[in-house]
Amino acid sequence: MTTKLNIKVNEHVSAVSAAPDTPLLYVLADELALKGPRFGCGLAQCGSCSVLVDGVETRACVTPVASVQGKSVTTLEGLPAWYARQHKLPQAPAMHPLQQALIDEQALQCGYCYNGMIIKGAELLARNAAPSDAQIRQAMNGHLCRCGTYPRILRAISRAAAVIAGERT
Ligand code: FES
Ligand code: FES
Repeated sequence: MTTKLNIKVNEHVSAVSAAPDTPLLYVLADELALKGPRFGCGLAQCGSCSVLVDGVETRACVTPVASVQGKSVTTLEGLPAWYARQHKLPQAPAMHPLQQALIDEQALQCGYCYNGMIIKGAELLARNAAPSDAQIRQAMNGHLCRCGTYPRILRAISRAAAVIAGERT
């Protein structure tokens, strides 16, 4: 049964109308017009729908919208501002450093996995500023890229870590 729910997405509290068990992904797309998270498998297997919930990467395709009430959801659209808050920057950059690193490494082809790779990579970099190659591979293990660009995505995450540390531009 449809009901009114208040959810906090990208630092704004929005009133939405949905059945409590509606996947968060549908509410983000249909009620809030946030198209960054993408529908892939619908089974928590690919990562294309990922968002951050209280800073933790979460599969929005299997997350009931009611379960995020009282929590803070960040989508790809809100990631630069989330990064700015993490690093106490006076204003949000145009992109999270990982987004720029993916461009610099020419890491993506069709781009369908882009959302999940960035959300998971950003989560990793927030808790581990200098991840090893093995730690990056382990963190990204549940994110699928049907174009097989994994090596370049992994390089982009390392590059973003170095940029955030001020070791390269
Ligand atoms: S669409 Fe959610 S994990 Fe694949
Ligand atoms: S670039 Fe096509 S799915 Fe990853």
